[in-house]
Amino acid sequence: KPLYVGIDVGGTTVKLALVTEEGVLQEKWEIVTNREEQGKFIMRDVAKAIVLKTAELNIPMSQVVAAGVGAPGYIDVENGIIVEAVNLGWKDYSIQDELENLLNIPVVVDNDANLAAGGEKWKGAGEGAANLLAVTLGTGVGGGIIAGGEIIHGQAGLAGEIGHITSVKSGGAPCNCGKFGCLETVASATGIARLGLEAVQRNPDGYLKRVLDEFGVVSAKDIFDGAKTGDPIAIEVVKESSEHLGFALANLANALNPEIIVIGGGVSKAGPFLVDYIRESFNRFAIPKIAKETILNIATLENDAGVIGAAWLAKQKRTSV
Ligand code: BGC
Ligand code: NA
Ligand code: ZN
Repeated sequence: KPLYVGIDVGGTTVKLALVTEEGVLQEKWEIVTNREEQGKFIMRDVAKAIVLKTAELNIPMSQVVAAGVGAPGYIDVENGIIVEAVNLGWKDYSIQDELENLLNIPVVVDNDANLAAGGEKWKGAGEGAANLLAVTLGTGVGGGIIAGGEIIHGQAGLAGEIGHITSVKSGGAPCNCGKFGCLETVASATGIARLGLEAVQRNPDGYLKRVLDEFGVVSAKDIFDGAKTGDPIAIEVVKESSEHLGFALANLANALNPEIIVIGGGVSKAGPFLVDYIRESFNRFAIPKIAKETILNIATLENDAGVIGAAWLAKQKRTSV
């Protein structure tokens, strides 16, 4: 039975998985992302990791029929090139050619969040949905748009760059993309931490101030922990961030009318209470019929959405040629 490799390239680790034709995860593991020289050794490391793992599991390489790769940046999907990954500082990396040469199987490349959307549509919170929006909240904020069952890429592959929607029109924080006030600067893990720090400066007592004095930093997780225990300043920060996210998602939903919006990435581990805040803002800015009918849910595949989506795309590519 054929197997697909799903690969999800991140800033610190590369996640890999062997996935069956039915979308069942057979095996998953991780390797460290080698960021030396603009990540140029990564595909070699990935190919070796696959050869090693299949040998260990006694799976003949001939059973592995195609691979999909998700990467955190602008992707030229036709040629399988990372055009630019703003949070990693990488440019013009021809992933598809390199991995095809190393493994001798078809390889397909797409944006990490586009593939998370694909994974959630194939096997996750949006199973079977033809019109779905996924947003991933992690180091960056990623987005994936599925319309009519397919990932929307736009003219140059940049469609779905939800993280770089402008949320703060003036006086916003700088973003790695070169603009100011992007959604990513207020809704990513680092963005939420920055909002937390600003809130502590405005309110120099309370829980977050204690965390800051004790540990020297305030993380997004500290803020969510504080909010869950009722700390008013932490709640204020979660509200501020969720308000921006709900606003962006409502405007997207007004334009795209998805059946479901799936919220994933590390920050989404904060849980359902985060969705409640996002929902509140979403409902204020969405067309009433859209507010009423759009499902808003936490991703169910968690960290596996990307690799499952990558396998989903690899399967499509293989069966379309
Ligand atoms: C990048 C996106 C990526 C997202 C999540 C953003 O900063 O521009 O391409 O999907 O981070 O990794
Ligand atoms: Na995207
Ligand atoms: Zn940006």
